Amino acid sequence: MSETQVALITGSAKRIGAFLARYLHDKGYDVIVHYRHSGAEAKALRDELEQTRPHSCIALHADLGDPQAWVQLAEQARGWRHRLDLLVNNASSYYPTELGNTSLEQWQDLFASNAQAPFFLTQHLLPLLKASQGNVVNIIDAMLQHPHPDFIPYQMAKSGLLTLTRSLAKTLAPEVRVNGIAPGAMLWPEGYDMTEENKQTTLEEIPLQRMGSELDIARTLYFLAREAPYITGQVIAVDGGASLR
Ligand SMILES: NC(=O)c1ccc[n+]([C@@H]2O[C@H](COP(=O)([O-])OP(=O)(O)OC[C@H]3O[C@@H](n4cnc5c(N)ncnc54)[C@H](OP(=O)(O)O)[C@@H]3O)[C@@H](O)[C@H]2O)c1
Repeated sequence: MSETQVALITGSAKRIGAFLARYLHDKGYDVIVHYRHSGAEAKALRDELEQTRPHSCIALHADLGDPQAWVQLAEQARGWRHRLDLLVNNASSYYPTELGNTSLEQWQDLFASNAQAPFFLTQHLLPLLKASQGNVVNIIDAMLQHPHPDFIPYQMAKSGLLTLTRSLAKTLAPEVRVNGIAPGAMLWPEGYDMTEENKQTTLEEIPLQRMGSELDIARTLYFLAREAPYITGQVIAVDGGASLR
């Protein structure tokens, strides 16, 4: 088995996930970039990382709404290095669903990426994670502290991910540590347009008076994965204090 640690980051073709992939790669990990629709971005990222260090990155496609794809992704990840040290459940669907007008399809889509896939992917990858005494880090959401009425299914799904984090930490100890990161406002959403007024209100509610950055998440991820051997089952809010209000 190769000595180099391997990380799989779901939803890592762009935005926060891509930053995490670059950061971990820079720290010496070989990385598996996962994508659904953003194939061009994922392959460009793979090529960029491969140029820095040959044979250090692959890009794998999977629609996490498809249960078959969970198995396939886990199989392909295993087949690459027969090793996995860090699974980052980052992929996420996020959009408002008004009470009274929410469809079952939206509900299922929000639960698939935010709760179901993290559970089943972890389950499929357990033998590898146990063999490496590895880590799972789930990317949750600081919004759960102050639920928003337009995001009920999303928040329910992320609450499931929070419960998964705590339950798995207990179940998988001492071999595998499982922690979570709850970001606050980092990047404005891509899937729908927030009004300028909503953006302003969000910013005013942050005690540290600025949005967070991908680097804030990446540093916390690295800390949890590599510098916190006695921490499991915890969720760190990286939100500039927004959850204190
Ligand atoms: N941005 C923020 O300020 C913020 C705040 C709080 C929490 N978070 C959390 O931080 C993480 C990263 O945030 P982000 O804003 O960078 O995420 P994002 O851009 O909204 O989504 C990340 C990726 O998730 C993938 N994805 C969504 N549904 C999928 C599915 N069914 N199957 C496979 N992939 C799927 C998409 O991949 P493709 O593009 O390849 O389809 C997308 O690029 C998320 O877990 C998010 O909930 C972010």
